[in-house]
Amino acid sequence: MATIGVGIIGCGGIALQNHLPGLELCPDTRLVGLCDNSAEVLQRAVQQTGAPVHTQDYNELVQRDDIHAVIIATPNFTHAPMAIAAAKNGKHVLCEKPLGMNRQETLDMFRCASENNVRHMTAFTYRFVPAMRYMKHLVENGDIGQPYHIRTCRLQDWGDRSIGWRQLSHMAGSGELGDMLSHRLDYAHFLIGDMKRLTADTRRFIDDRQGLESDLEDWVTVIAEFENQATGVLESSKLATGRGEGARSQDYCEINGSEATMVFQLANPNQFQIARRGQAGLETVDVPREFLTWQGSSRDPSQGDPGIAFRWDQDFEFIDAIQNQRECNPSFLQGARVQSVMDLALKAAAEKTWFDVEYPEG
Ligand SMILES: NC(=O)c1ccc[n+]([C@@H]2O[C@H](COP(=O)([O-])OP(=O)(O)OC[C@H]3O[C@@H](n4cnc5c(N)ncnc54)[C@H](O)[C@@H]3O)[C@@H](O)[C@H]2O)c1
Repeated sequence: MATIGVGIIGCGGIALQNHLPGLELCPDTRLVGLCDNSAEVLQRAVQQTGAPVHTQDYNELVQRDDIHAVIIATPNFTHAPMAIAAAKNGKHVLCEKPLGMNRQETLDMFRCASENNVRHMTAFTYRFVPAMRYMKHLVENGDIGQPYHIRTCRLQDWGDRSIGWRQLSHMAGSGELGDMLSHRLDYAHFLIGDMKRLTADTRRFIDDRQGLESDLEDWVTVIAEFENQATGVLESSKLATGRGEGARSQDYCEINGSEATMVFQLANPNQFQIARRGQAGLETVDVPREFLTWQGSSRDPSQGDPGIAFRWDQDFEFIDAIQNQRECNPSFLQGARVQSVMDLALKAAAEKTWFDVEYPEG
């Protein structure tokens, strides 16, 4: 395959902010087609990108011979039918998180992509944060000793404004759990390992967002015990008044081990803090150059907003995996593993109890 033709399905916020600049980093890759079921959004994206093919029907896009790979960046309830249609047509798929609406859907997606021998990737963006990648290296290297705790805190202030499909269970599946905590569940897997058991709680404080019913939680916390005995407290809220939104609002992860504590905040993705045993407090450390970009990515880490630019490496990883005929990292299996934890968290919150975690097999 000389040049990889890419189609983007869903031309809203994340497609234009993350995936367009990401594709520009990829050698021998061309954005061929765009799909959005809103004529207005589609028109705007066509003007911005100059992509030659555009349609409001994703089936048209996935059937084209000049499109070899698709990026799915639509509301959650559409991910499974789109990814399955794409895989059945032999297209490689990068799909936004949360991968689907429930564990079964995500397993169907994983199996369909595997059976059709296409590359499949879940957009768990935090795996691409330079500080996260270096922290993972230090954990694996034994620098923090035995991991005791992981603590994550995602606090944003979305108030009572309308958040569209995100406030409706039939379109989003879950609220803050899928929207924000899914990333934390994935990077807890990445940094600490598999969970053994968990409990959770959710809360909805806002039932009406500017005249539209909201039937999903705007706060969630998962408490987990990991297979390696470490504990986790993962909290996320849309109602942290005054905290703001996006990359500049509170986005915190702390890991305590027998030899060291590490702290990460998304506001400074190219730095983290560390305190070694016997030290009185945290010191700030720059992430070494080799961890600032994904292996092989030509991205210049001194360019662009550091809070945004690392996200572009996701698309590089997707295209590089296609070009080198290897698995994407993270794949649909990682998406299905997180979805399994999410399903269990909702059950635990409803039944006010703990459950053992059963992960799907690869
Ligand atoms: N990885 C991340 O960090 C990250 C960040 C933000 C959003 N997301 C995920 O990306 C996805 C999209 O989020 P967003 O914020 O861009 O949403 P958005 O509402 O801004 O954009 C979604 C777009 O999909 C289009 N769409 C809806 N149904 C469609 C269909 N059937 N066919 C074609 N187009 C359709 C809408 O018209 C809209 O333009 C969600 O799954 C979300 O969870 C991931």
